[in-house]
Amino acid sequence: MSFPTHRPRRLRRNETLRRMVRETVLQPSDFIYPLFVVEGRGVKKPVSAMPGVFNLSVELAVEEARQAWALGVPSVILFGIPDHKDATGSAAWAKDGIVQKAIRAIKDAIPELQVMADVCLCEYTDHGHCGVIVDGEVHNDQTLPLLTQMAVSCAQAGADVIAPSDMMDGRIGAIRKGLDESGFSSVPILSYAAKYASGFYGPFREAAQSAPRFGDRRGYQMDPANVREALKEVQLDLDEGADMVMVKPALSYLDVIRAVRERFDVPLAAYNVSGEYAMVRAAAQHGWIDYERVMLEVLTSIRRAGADLILTYHALDAARLLNG
Ligand code: PBG
Repeated sequence: MSFPTHRPRRLRRNETLRRMVRETVLQPSDFIYPLFVVEGRGVKKPVSAMPGVFNLSVELAVEEARQAWALGVPSVILFGIPDHKDATGSAAWAKDGIVQKAIRAIKDAIPELQVMADVCLCEYTDHGHCGVIVDGEVHNDQTLPLLTQMAVSCAQAGADVIAPSDMMDGRIGAIRKGLDESGFSSVPILSYAAKYASGFYGPFREAAQSAPRFGDRRGYQMDPANVREALKEVQLDLDEGADMVMVKPALSYLDVIRAVRERFDVPLAAYNVSGEYAMVRAAAQHGWIDYERVMLEVLTSIRRAGADLILTYHALDAARLLNG
């Protein structure tokens, strides 16, 4: 036999062959599109570090959600930015709160679209932390009933999925119990199970006006150096009743996505976060990379690592491309 025996290039010779042996396929139904909703009408305020992303008033968020659905994106996740913040984040569970209004309006307009509610207090507290402060620290157990109230209030407004992103211990169990006792036993929980204390959330905190006023989130979010701990967090959340789990961020944590995929047989989401989006956008604006090509490569790599679903600000751009 002539050298070399193996020629992997044989299967790369044309696009049809490449398509036939492709292992990972990206589709619009893989995406969950995040939206930032604010009070008012006709508000479309750009987020400076996230070109193409806006703070939207409810009726414009509905339009954006409509576009997502038309492109084959099955789900949006909502972040509410209230006009008034306080120490406990009470606007988070107000019947007429911003996220509750947005959930109702989107469900009215596009009933089949799956509306997820991010459940966390940092957008609603005046100090910007994800729970209540007692003696200078985020108090775990006093935060749980507040998160539960927010979750129930979002379910009452019509949310299809509750997605807790606060990283308090025991919150999945508390929220599950609260939902069940309020008649929402069929509303699933997507837990931000392995959420790291990441510098990649910077642009989000501008978008959601949720930067902590003092300290940081390392006392509740995970240390970027740990992966075994991520498996423990996922296990605990599943034991407490999570239906789906998430790893966040995605790109610096592809090994974590892979490890969770190998250990647990549940739907796995990954959050392609604001800073990851900002880097791609910024380099593309400089003409240093090809936006569309890099975007699809990034999203494909997250799927290849093992994520079933991707929360991404690229959702509409990527869906447009994939739909041809
Ligand atoms: C709320 C929350 C954050 C993100 C999602 N939910 C910010 C944070 O934890 O500080 C970040 C999303 C992104 O960066 O795109 N706790």
